[in-house]
Amino acid sequence: MEATDSLRGVLQELGILLRERQKRGLKRITLSRDSVERLRNLPHRLVSQPKPVPELSATAPAATAHAPSAPGVAPFSQAGPSPLASAPAARMPENDTKTEEAIVPAQNPPPPSRASEKLTPPEGPATAQIAWLRQKAEESLRCQELGTLRNAMVFSSGDPTSRLMLVGEAPGEEEEREGAPFVGPAGQKLIKVLSAMGLSRETVYISNVVKYRPKMGDGRFQGAKNRAPTTEEVRACRPFLLAEIAVIKPAVIVALGATAAMGLLDLAECTVSRMRNRFHDLHGIPVMITYHPSYLLRCEGKPEELQEKRKVWEDMMLVMERLGMPISDQQRRYFLR
Ligand code: URA
Repeated sequence: MEATDSLRGVLQELGILLRERQKRGLKRITLSRDSVERLRNLPHRLVSQPKPVPELSATAPAATAHAPSAPGVAPFSQAGPSPLASAPAARMPENDTKTEEAIVPAQNPPPPSRASEKLTPPEGPATAQIAWLRQKAEESLRCQELGTLRNAMVFSSGDPTSRLMLVGEAPGEEEEREGAPFVGPAGQKLIKVLSAMGLSRETVYISNVVKYRPKMGDGRFQGAKNRAPTTEEVRACRPFLLAEIAVIKPAVIVALGATAAMGLLDLAECTVSRMRNRFHDLHGIPVMITYHPSYLLRCEGKPEELQEKRKVWEDMMLVMERLGMPISDQQRRYFLR
């Protein structure tokens, strides 16, 4: 049982590493005959899990680079190059297709454990540590036993070596379906905000306080309906978020909306309008609280739309300054009349 579980962990890590490389343009990997044989001989149930490693050729190409401060570019609407990598040495080399040794993670994760166990991943690359935490969240009895969260776990996406981490509330319908945070309409809006900063979703690390979509009723006829997570749900998932932060060690965290801010900072309440536009402290890491992208979506077409976008933009400019990112004059004027 233990060997099987640790093998499954390794396969999961391998899937994540391969997907990352695929996003960086890798089309094929070369394996020795012996490795192919060993993979073929894996127990069938291990290689037919619900989320198998996709074919390397089956995924869309990585997003193209962007030029946020180019003249005439509309803010919150384009994508751009990223100055955010904190540890270039820890990144996967591009086009490294040589050997299987290069893609096998250094450490096997330990077997699954009770939710009460300390969430300290084994030494290794950040990607492998995040994969280990993902596995722990998937097995979390504390989350499952609440009975108020749906079954599909959505953990995080993006670059675990990024200096910028963004934290939302909980997955919605699209996120649950795709197994990744911020891939629905709020995610599209978030990408526009990132793009105005000169960033893409691949260059930052994106997560949620709550790792499962909160149930409405018994969850059977939920459709697209969502609700905010309860305090118990936030408490059950917070250890995973804190463990992620310990791995990522971001230079700045952005809390998207009040629920994210409360979960991150362990607050009983939060009013974004009062707490935004300045940094709060989480164990020495500056946390910027700003409006959730869904709020910006709700403002669309209303008289306050531009003003509310400007508020988010002002928060993000503080984040950029804290990260040492240059801000062009054009960027400084975004969303001013
Ligand atoms: N809203 C969030 O807070 N998180 C998501 O992942 C999607 C929508």
